[in-house]
Amino acid sequence: MTETALCAPYYRAVGEEAHVFRAAARRGSPILLKGPTGCGKTRFVEAMAHDLGRELITVAGHEDMTSADLVGRFLLKGGETVWVDGPLTRAVRGGAIFYLDEVVEARQDTTVVIHPLADHRRELPVDRLGLTLPAAPGFQLVISYNPGYQSVLKSLKESTRQRFIAIELGFPPADIETEVVGYEAGIDVDTARILVTLAGRIRNLDGSPLREVASTRMLILAGGLVAEGLSLRSAVQAAMVQVLSDDGDLVRALGELVDATLPQT
Ligand SMILES: Nc1ncnc2c1ncn2[C@@H]1O[C@H](COP(=O)(O)OP(=O)(O)OP(=O)(O)O)[C@@H](O)[C@H]1O
Ligand SMILES: [Mg+2]
Repeated sequence: MTETALCAPYYRAVGEEAHVFRAAARRGSPILLKGPTGCGKTRFVEAMAHDLGRELITVAGHEDMTSADLVGRFLLKGGETVWVDGPLTRAVRGGAIFYLDEVVEARQDTTVVIHPLADHRRELPVDRLGLTLPAAPGFQLVISYNPGYQSVLKSLKESTRQRFIAIELGFPPADIETEVVGYEAGIDVDTARILVTLAGRIRNLDGSPLREVASTRMLILAGGLVAEGLSLRSAVQAAMVQVLSDDGDLVRALGELVDATLPQT
């Protein structure tokens, strides 16, 4: 999938992340983005690609991904066998930002193809063509994963990790998250603040049995329903409570948090 941003994607910096990204990019160092789902990793990379004036090529890691999916393969076209560059090879040739999302979903033998690109060599061996491509200036490798989903089976090889500059993104502090939710959903600051307060309470639930807490994305989805005319209560029920759990007791417990947080009508 190729994404080329025409206008600047909206990204509200939370800390030093943009400075670290630009410094790593100047050095040609690869970047490892860590953070929970819906915290802004993809949006951040889109914003940085725009800022640096680079094309962004994004690939989502999955367990059936092979190195050929990244590098390329010979395909039969009209009776002829032609080589077709994979997304990684296109990024290497074109000096683009290559963003490998959910990297831990990919098998380790697949991620090894990025090793020579992730150190001083900055090159991609394309075995099937019998050549090694030097990365064009501007090529930038970015990988991301959600540490919450990590298991022993699905973790990055240490030799992969240690090639990267890590940037940790979390949910923004309440005032910034309020701004982001208000802007993205198109709702007033007061409503956005209530959603952010509710998320804060859900995130702080003691010994939370939830697989994932309420993300910024979830708050934007809830806010979007409000912008479409739903009551705040209905929006929160549909976009947050019912999404977070199927368990009756848990849904009731979340409902109590909602009652305690939303203004009584
Ligand atoms: N700091 C921020 N500035 C602007 N938007 C933000 C910020 N943080 C989160 N968002 C918004 O949150 C939503 C989700 O962000 P995004 O898709 O980038 O999450 P993600 O971390 O890539 O999630 P996933 O791991 O599920 O892919 C987007 O609509 C994005 O605009
Ligand atoms: Mg993403």
